[in-house]
Amino acid sequence: MGFDEGRAETIRYHEELYSAPEAHDPDAWLNQPAPIVMGALQHLDRTRPVRVYDLGAGSGRHTIPLARTLPSGSRVVAVDLLDTAVQSLKERAARESVADVVIPVVADQEGYRFDRGPADLVLGVSTLEHVSSVEAFRDLLARMRDATAPGGVVVLVIATDRHEVADGETRPAQAELALTTEEAVRIVDEVYADWTEHRRDESPFGVTEERDGRSYELRSVNVRRVLQRPHE
Ligand SMILES: C[S@@+](CC[C@H](N)C(=O)[O-])C[C@H]1O[C@@H](n2cnc3c(N)ncnc32)[C@H](O)[C@@H]1O
Repeated sequence: MGFDEGRAETIRYHEELYSAPEAHDPDAWLNQPAPIVMGALQHLDRTRPVRVYDLGAGSGRHTIPLARTLPSGSRVVAVDLLDTAVQSLKERAARESVADVVIPVVADQEGYRFDRGPADLVLGVSTLEHVSSVEAFRDLLARMRDATAPGGVVVLVIATDRHEVADGETRPAQAELALTTEEAVRIVDEVYADWTEHRRDESPFGVTEERDGRSYELRSVNVRRVLQRPHE
């Protein structure tokens, strides 16, 4: 499996996800923020405006609730590779009256420069594994670190050891990069060596999906971290 095939599958999967009827259901998982993200707010100073970068923001599962919750003057920069995702996020932001808080950006996280100012919170939730190499993964984590202000927080949820099970057979997932749990954990530990760790765990994750009318189980490990840059 090469990068191009993996990327094509990432695009196919998410285009389908964002155009499915459930995408408009407020109770669907893709509209329910993950507790690890909302819980990370407790570590931030929210007596002043907060700047957030949400990488792989999708249709706004975290961008929208954050935009609704954060103090006046805050900004959430929502970055996604897919125009479809960003359009859907923009519509939702307008519907929920937070369009002035959200800065939608269509861009690849690989090479993204965090050019809207220092971050108080950076989210990399179920997106960081979509890069072309282990070096690109490390470089992205380092740019997230360097973009974060003193006292700022980074939330990571990284899918590793991804594989598919179908018809009793196990095969590697159709993904851009075959990132192992061991590699991801080692690189995160190196890049964020002197940061405070508020959460650290790795847990198995499985979900049933469909492709070309056939179902398969996508299995992975979720590497999760909540990390805080030391205050100066
Ligand atoms: C599984 S969804 C997660 C969305 C959201 N972060 C969440 O937790 O619900 C992954 C998102 O990352 C986006 N994505 C994948 N590769 C990307 C890349 N290289 N740069 C930016 N976004 C990317 C996809 O388009 C998709 O919207």
